[in-house]
Order: sequence, then C-alpha cells, then structure tokens
Amino acid sequence: MNRLTVPAPFAGQASTLSRPPALNTGGPSLLNVQDVSVIRGRQSILSGVTLEVPQGQSVGILGANGAGKTTLLRCCAGLESVSSGTVRLGGHTGSNGDTLTRTRVGMVFQQHQLVRAYSALTNVIHGRLGLAEGWRCCWHVTAPAHLRAKAMACLEQVGMAGKAMRPVADLSGGEAQRVAIARALMRDPELLLADEPTASLDPTARLDVIRLLTSLTRQSPACLLVSIHDEHLALATMDRIVGLKGGRVVLDALAAEVTLEEIQSLYAAVPQDEPC
Ligand SMILES: Nc1ncnc2c1ncn2[C@@H]1O[C@H](COP(=O)(O)OP(=O)(O)OP(=O)(O)O)[C@@H](O)[C@H]1O
Ligand SMILES: [Mg+2]
Repeated sequence: MNRLTVPAPFAGQASTLSRPPALNTGGPSLLNVQDVSVIRGRQSILSGVTLEVPQGQSVGILGANGAGKTTLLRCCAGLESVSSGTVRLGGHTGSNGDTLTRTRVGMVFQQHQLVRAYSALTNVIHGRLGLAEGWRCCWHVTAPAHLRAKAMACLEQVGMAGKAMRPVADLSGGEAQRVAIARALMRDPELLLADEPTASLDPTARLDVIRLLTSLTRQSPACLLVSIHDEHLALATMDRIVGLKGGRVVLDALAAEVTLEEIQSLYAAVPQDEPC
C-alpha cells in the first residue's frame, strides 16, 4: 500500500505541518448532509451525498473537474437548491436558500470576489450584506460603528488590520484571500466553506491560507469544508478527506489513513452519466 507520509511539496516544512487532532471528532455533527441529490435539466450533479461533520473538523473535498465539489459547497451554503435530501446546520434545515442557514455560513470563493476598488475594510463589511443592516454596509463610512469595529477585528484575526484602508487592487493574491476570509468571518459562521481558495496562490501563500482556515475553524469552533485540487496540501492540513467522483462520495476517511492510490483513483476517467 502506498501510504502518504510527509507530502512531497511540503517535506521541508514537516515541523510546521503537524496536524493537531480534530476537536470533538466523535461528537455530534454540526453539519448534517443527508442523501442529497442535485439534478439540473437531465444531468445528475450530486447523487445521494451524505456527510456529517462535527465542530472543529476540517474536511478537504477532492475530486476531478466537474465531480460536484462546488455544487456540494453551494448546497451547504444554501445557495443551491437540492432536488432531494436535506442539509442541516446545527439542527436547522436550510437546503433551499433558507436565510437562517445562510446567516450562519461564511463562504470564501476561488477568485475571492472582492470589489477591487474598495478598501479591505469596506470589503469585509460587505460580509454583512443581505443581513439586517442593509445598504448601510455598502461602504465603511456609512456602516454602523459596531460593524466597523467588528470588521477591524476580523481583519486583525487574519493579520490584515494594518492594510485595512488599502484598496484590494493593491494587495497581493494571498493578502486578498485573507481579506476574503475576514469577510466570511463577519457572519460569525458556524460553517466555513472555501471553494478552491488557494488556486491562484504560490505554494507558501497556499499553505498560509489553508492553515489560517483550519486554525480559525478550531478557535471558533466551527467546521470547515474546503474544495481543493492539491492533494498534498489537503493531506497535510485537513482532518478528513472526502472524495467525489461523478457526484457521488467514493472516499471518506481521516486524512492520516488515506492512501495515494485512493486519491489518484478520484481522478481516473469517469464514464459519462446516463441522462436521468
Ligand atoms: N446550474 C447547472 N446546470 C447544469 N449543469 C450544472 C449546473 N451547475 C453545475 N453543473 C454541472 O455539474 C457538474 C459539477 O459541477 P461543479 O462546479 O460542482 O464541479 P466541481 O467539482 O466544482 O468542478 P471544478 O473542479 O472544475 O471546479 C459539472 O458537469 C457542471 O457542468
Ligand atoms: Mg468547482
């Protein structure tokens, strides 16, 4: 069996990559995805996905392009309606865009989706858009003082308080992704979702961003789902690996127990789905 030990690209940083044990892994699940299927048109995108994630656990979602990673994250965020099954967060069902659920979820997108002309602070305050404060969150000057203070605290958490007033356009990719994480924290998320948050970053920034996400998850404590293509990074930093293939969960194991063959099999060609 080809078991991964120290992932190759991070072999020189083994001491900084020691993975703390997942908190409360035997405890009750915070996120409960039960038998979720998503069908769009005649295409089955997710089929019978079941996933229970306890507080404090970080889960790497791996799979080939089109495997359904983004769709799964969007279902968990309440941004995508499910065709059948349920998504529950802390006991609340909200799989079809339910506001209660969406207010407790923070999402970090691949291209961070920040407004480049606006300051980091304003972008972080945008994390409250759609919630009770409404239009006042469009700019930091109009935002209520308590939200400005909260946004500064979120920037502090990600190490970006010193660049709060800088336009995002002037930040590096890694810095911008940190601002995007701070924006997600504005919702006090119980569930933190990140869709390929490291795709455009260099190896050092990738590691920094993922480790920031996992440490924030443990501090909150929340739970974390990260879609990620870098299996070495996922194995080095995540508590658990979930592998999707053709919209189905084909691998679900603690990262320490996952083998290279199992990861590679996720990327083997999958036969085209029959129309449903
Ligand atoms: N609204 C939609 N209507 C029809 N098909 C869709 C829709 N959304 C996603 N799909 C299809 O569902 C499949 C899964 O898409 P998804 O974006 O979840 O994959 P992914 O695993 O995130 O892929 P990648 O690694 O490329 O980001 C793809 O074949 C995609 O074309
Ligand atoms: Mg995707």
